[in-house]
Amino acid sequence: MNHATSPVTSAYSQDELKTQVARAALAYVVPGEIVGVGTGSTVNKFIDAVAGMKDRIRGAVSSSQASTARLQALGIKVFEAQEVDSLAVYIDGADEIDAQGNMIKGGGAALTREKIVAALARCFVCIADESKLVQTLGKFALPVEIIPMAAKQLGRQFAAIGGHARVRTAGEVPVLTDNGQMILDVSGLQIREPRAFELEISQWPGVVTVGVFAIQKAQICLLGTPRGVRTLDFRAPAGQP
Ligand code: 5RP
Repeated sequence: MNHATSPVTSAYSQDELKTQVARAALAYVVPGEIVGVGTGSTVNKFIDAVAGMKDRIRGAVSSSQASTARLQALGIKVFEAQEVDSLAVYIDGADEIDAQGNMIKGGGAALTREKIVAALARCFVCIADESKLVQTLGKFALPVEIIPMAAKQLGRQFAAIGGHARVRTAGEVPVLTDNGQMILDVSGLQIREPRAFELEISQWPGVVTVGVFAIQKAQICLLGTPRGVRTLDFRAPAGQP
């Protein structure tokens, strides 16, 4: 998936802005610890950058086979999620992020493992170029990982709330996730209450994972802009819940 509908109109390409935030994310990697690593083109740049400090980290937990392969090719040890109790930090991209740190993810079909690894982490650092910052989630078609036999029924349920669901394909063939399931991309939604939406859709029979990350939302977002990296900090100020 790309973000052709929200081009970055500046001297910097979207690719350069991704490189900028990927490098800035190194400041959040805790030496001596295992780092959680997401999936996607921005994360690929982070993996390339973190390889430069591979001797100072224990390794990584990865959210996809693609990231695992890239980490291992660069000599970074990859642990299974089952081998760790918690992670200091999880670094991942997003397809959209709002001003509260809620995100749409799953453009790379890795949303289920991303949610699992994010849930292990004490801090989610989102790395994205500024085209990903939105007022309301939903312009990017919402990825939903599903059990294939539920596809039609879920399509009707999304239609009832104003969405249009399509099975993600590569050519004629449905895309299968690392978990062997299918992805529905749901366009036409305006997700004004991301947490309530995530809780509701997660209950629908056949839904494996909905690509709204409001429960595992970002604590920090490093946003690549032509004026430099902008840091959005969504953590509550000290003393507040
Ligand atoms: C993969 C994801 C990615 O983080 C999201 O699609 C952003 O990707 P990119 O960095 O390539 O723009 O959720 O499932």
